[in-house]
Amino acid sequence: MTEAEIYSVYKGVYVTAQLYTPESLKYHEDFTFRPDDILIVTYPKSGTTWTQEIVPLIMSEGDFTPVLTVPNWDRVPWLEERRAMALNLEQRPSPRIFATHLHHQMMNESFFKIKPRVIYVLRNPKDVFISAFHYYGIAAFMANPGTQDEFMEKFLDGKVFFGSWFDHVKGWLNAEEPILHVFYEEMIADLKGSVEKIATYLGKSLSQEIIEKIADHCVFKNMKQNKMSNYSLVPEEFMDQKKSAFLRKGVAGDWKNHFTEAQEQRFNAVYKDKMKDVKFKLMWD
Ligand code: A3P
Repeated sequence: MTEAEIYSVYKGVYVTAQLYTPESLKYHEDFTFRPDDILIVTYPKSGTTWTQEIVPLIMSEGDFTPVLTVPNWDRVPWLEERRAMALNLEQRPSPRIFATHLHHQMMNESFFKIKPRVIYVLRNPKDVFISAFHYYGIAAFMANPGTQDEFMEKFLDGKVFFGSWFDHVKGWLNAEEPILHVFYEEMIADLKGSVEKIATYLGKSLSQEIIEKIADHCVFKNMKQNKMSNYSLVPEEFMDQKKSAFLRKGVAGDWKNHFTEAQEQRFNAVYKDKMKDVKFKLMWD
């Protein structure tokens, strides 16, 4: 399929037409938040699936039932994706946990009025790029990435799934609503500390034993075994994990193994220009 067949443009941003339909996007537009909703916000490939594992475990206080019995896409559904319409989210008991890849200015009216709790997960864009490059290569519903050089130009230009990483990050960093920012790199460096930080934000006081239990389950090698979270339930014709696993490598800094010197310079130049006004301390800078 061509890019024109795969993507549709929603509020200036590419989404995959198969998963984000006019009805599902309207569903999000009309959606009513509750103040105690928890919204995990990410640019794709920044640690969404990981956080979809951690937050339910914090809210269940270490009970593994939700993460071992419900696939991540139903456990913490994306509000704008087609699947959300089938899940009766209005009937879910509070506190509900959702995910979204939407840019800040794409959020609906209820979001700005109700101000639910937001956890924004960010990751070094070079690692996001490498992760996306592999992911686009295995998912039948994504556009073929082409060569790494070709994909880099599209990525830097925002002509990819969910648009520009720079716009996404800047929009959410500049948001006025209270937001917990969590770095992928911070979770890699100190998962227990990150679980504790997220739990505190969510008003959960957990024992050290439970925090350790959650962190242990969520380390890459353990979480990779959870079939409710490793996308092995998705048929191979849609996601060919023989080529590259969805939970692929799970490290910080893998870009160094993949970028040529020219690609690093090109990326740095665009990054420097687009991020010049950002005051927020970013962990990888
Ligand atoms: P890599 O491709 O670099 O391995 P998302 O869920 O937003 O699509 O992000 C996917 C990325 O998060 C993948 O990165 C995946 O391996 C990584 N990831 C998922 N679970 C993880 C975990 N428990 N620990 C570390 N990284 C994880």
